[in-house]
Amino acid sequence: MERPNPNDPGAPVHAPEVGPPPSPDDVRAVLGGVIDPELNVSITELGMVDEVDVGANGHVMVRVALTTAGCPLRHQIKQEVESKVRGLRGVSAVKVEYSEMDAEQKAAAMGRARWQARENAAPTEVAATTRVLAVASGKGGVGKSSVTVNLAVALAARGLRVGVLDADIWGFSVPRMLGIDGRLSGVDGKIHPHEIDVPNALDPSAPPGALSVISMGFLVDDEGTALMWRGLILTKALEQFLTDVRWGVLDYLLIDMPPGTGDIQMGLARLLPQAEMLVVTTPAVAAQKVAVRVADMARRSHMKVLGVVENMSEFVTPTGERFALFGSGGGEALAADIGVPLVARIPIEPAVSTGGDTGTPVALRAPDDPVGAAFHVLAARVVDDLLPPIEMAGCTARMMDLIEQAAAKP
Ligand SMILES: Nc1ncnc2c1ncn2[C@@H]1O[C@H](COP(=O)(O)OP(=O)(O)O)[C@@H](O)[C@H]1O
Ligand SMILES: [Mg+2]
Repeated sequence: MERPNPNDPGAPVHAPEVGPPPSPDDVRAVLGGVIDPELNVSITELGMVDEVDVGANGHVMVRVALTTAGCPLRHQIKQEVESKVRGLRGVSAVKVEYSEMDAEQKAAAMGRARWQARENAAPTEVAATTRVLAVASGKGGVGKSSVTVNLAVALAARGLRVGVLDADIWGFSVPRMLGIDGRLSGVDGKIHPHEIDVPNALDPSAPPGALSVISMGFLVDDEGTALMWRGLILTKALEQFLTDVRWGVLDYLLIDMPPGTGDIQMGLARLLPQAEMLVVTTPAVAAQKVAVRVADMARRSHMKVLGVVENMSEFVTPTGERFALFGSGGGEALAADIGVPLVARIPIEPAVSTGGDTGTPVALRAPDDPVGAAFHVLAARVVDDLLPPIEMAGCTARMMDLIEQAAAKP
C-alpha cells in the first residue's frame, strides 16, 4: 500500500513524542489486558507477573511466572506481553523472561481460576480467545462504521468468525450497511446475534467465514426512537451487548464505537481488558484534536491503541490520477502525535458509500478488486501482524481438565 512520502515538503513534520518511560505500575496495568487464553483470567490476577523492571532508557523487562514451564502457550503469552507493553508511550524495548511458579503460587493461581470456573464469573460472553478491536474516532462522519463493517467482512472472507457490535447506540448504521433487518431472537435468556456467512475468498473450497451482528437497530424501530434512549442506557447497552449476547467462539469482535470520548470507552476497558483500539480519521490535518483525546482516553483506561486508519485519503481515477479531496497528512500526523503506526489509508471510493446504502459492503468483492482492496490489505495486516488470531494449542485440554476436576470437587 502506498504510504505518504515523508520527504514530501508539503507533509507536516510531527516528531513522535517518546516521552518519559512508564512506571512499573503502568506496565502492570496494561498487562491486566493479557488474558491467559485457557484460564480466562488476566495474568496479573493469576499472579503470573513476577517482576517488572523499567530502565531509564525505556527498556522494560517483564518476568512471567508460568504454571508449567513447558506449556506451549508461553509463546502466546510472551507475544501478548510484548505487544501490550510496546503500546505504552516511552517504551523503547521489551524483554520477557520466565520463571516457574512454586507450589504455593501454583495453588493460588489454580484457586483463582477454579473460583472463576465455579462462579462462572467471566464478566462477559466474549471468549478469552477472542481478539477485541474497538473502532473509534473523534467525530462522526469520518467512516468509522464503513471501516468496521468492511474490515469485519474482509476478516470473515479469510474464513474467520467475526462479531460486529454496533455500539453507536444512537447513530447506528451497521444494519443498513450489512443489509440486515429484523428483530433479534433470544434463547435461554440470551440474545442471539444475526448471522451471515461470508464465502472464503482465499480458498473457495474452504468453509465460509461468518459475521455475528448486534445493533441497537435490531431492538428499536427507527433512529428516532433510539435517540430517546440517549445517555440513559448508553453504557448499560454496551454492557448488555457483551454480557447477554450469545457470541459463541469468535476469532475477532469488532466494536463500532460512538464518536468521541466518554464513559462507554471506560466501560469497555473495564469489561473487556483485552480490547485494543483502531482510531479512524480523515486526511484533514486540522481536525485531529478530538482524535488525540480519544487515544489519550484509551490509554488512561490502559487500552492499547493499535494504530490509525486514515479514511477518504484520496480519490484515485480509473487512469490512476490522484486527488486529495479532503487534504492530506492527517493520518500520519495523528499517528505521530499518539505514537502509533498508520496502519491503512483507505481511498475515497463512491462504491464504499453506495455499498453501505445497499447493504453490500465493498469488501464482499474479490480481495484483488481495487474497489475493496484497501480493506483486504488492512485485514491481512491485522491477521498477520497487528493482532493475529489466538491459536489454542498444546496444553489447553489438559489444563481445562484439571480445572474442571478441581471445580467438581466439593
Ligand atoms: N472511503 C470512503 N469513500 C467514500 N465514501 C465513504 C468512505 N468512507 C465512508 N464513506 C461515506 O461517508 C459517510 C460517513 O461514513 P460512516 O462510516 O457512516 O462514518 P461514521 O461511522 O464515522 O459516522 C457514509 O455515507 C459513508 O458511506
Ligand atoms: Mg457510524
